[in-house]
Amino acid sequence: MKHSPHIIYLDNNATTPLAPEVCNAIAECLKINFGNPSSGHAYGSTAKNAVQHAREQLAGLIGASPDEIIFTSGGTEANNMAIFGTARRFRSGHIITSCTEHPAVLKPLNELQKRGYRVTYLPVDSYGLVDPSAVMKNIRKDTFLITVMHSNNETGTLQPVKEIGKIAKERRILFHCDAAQSVGKVPVNVKSLHVNLLTIVSHKFYGPKGVGALYIRKGTDLLPILYGASHEKGLRPGTENVCSIAGLGKASELARKEIKHRVAHMKKLSRMMLEELHRQIPGVKLNGHPLKRLPNTLNISFPNITGSALLERLRNDIAASTGSACHEGKHTPSAVLKAMGLSDERALGAVRFSLGRDTTEQQIKKAVKAIVKACIT
Ligand SMILES: Cc1ncc(COP(=O)(O)O)c(C=O)c1O
Repeated sequence: MKHSPHIIYLDNNATTPLAPEVCNAIAECLKINFGNPSSGHAYGSTAKNAVQHAREQLAGLIGASPDEIIFTSGGTEANNMAIFGTARRFRSGHIITSCTEHPAVLKPLNELQKRGYRVTYLPVDSYGLVDPSAVMKNIRKDTFLITVMHSNNETGTLQPVKEIGKIAKERRILFHCDAAQSVGKVPVNVKSLHVNLLTIVSHKFYGPKGVGALYIRKGTDLLPILYGASHEKGLRPGTENVCSIAGLGKASELARKEIKHRVAHMKKLSRMMLEELHRQIPGVKLNGHPLKRLPNTLNISFPNITGSALLERLRNDIAASTGSACHEGKHTPSAVLKAMGLSDERALGAVRFSLGRDTTEQQIKKAVKAIVKACIT
């Protein structure tokens, strides 16, 4: 079944539509570029060049050098590669993370705990922020990895990554940052963040799904988590997903060009949406940091209605999401919002609206109208 084109898409943190330029780049690649990048002949070289070009485009977006980029199947794989890849190298020891990380970080860490590694899950404050001094205090002799996300997928709260990176660098501990939600939405520069490892996800910034990358700073040694041939420096064996990688490259080039405009546009519209909701619905509350957050993300709690009930009423008007999980018809509040100390009622009343580069002022006005109507009926 096809969705109605009239439904306003405000779920860009879940995924974004393909940019037309990306679509064209992929289509062109699919038509002509079928070679295996490992083949020594002309067909292979053309495919290899496409992958290398994408590597340069992505590196340009995040201030890396092209040989520091390893292509993966997405954010989940990049996080697993960073976490298991370092853990396998160190064999034992201690890792510091935050309790509001994405499951693609938390689950690998849970698995490492079962294998004898120690993990400290730092708490967050009521805005969802990790305190860098808590990172410092929890460092032990055997701490080999710190992994803290760049921005939270539910609230958009931006973590003090630069400060944490500085601490990690001073203490010579590897630092991984899951920047799945930030790359393409805000400027991200691997050098100024002092990260060793950074996760990039193509479909969060108008590229195709099923492709992503791990930035690995020169000199950072990982062991592979997959074994096969020597693709991607032996870290990610398997014939490259050439056309999707080309799409990720094009999305990176676009993001680099548009980033200033994207930030300004999404900031303006999300501010407008928040102000209007505050004005028209008494008792709505913004979750997450009011300033230190992604320009596109509004996690809002509504009074006297659950987020899931509200979205059900808005089914034909708006596509957005809640952070709550549904098990056998019962909703449990989002773990991220609970970690911030929100009451069950406020956490269950939350809806995440995530705007995109193509969201218009008119759509926001229509969306607010629909939300107000749904709240009073
Ligand atoms: C913060 C964060 N990390 C990792 C991921 C995983 O990305 P993927 O589903 O593309 O593997 C996501 C996806 O929502 C995310 O938001």
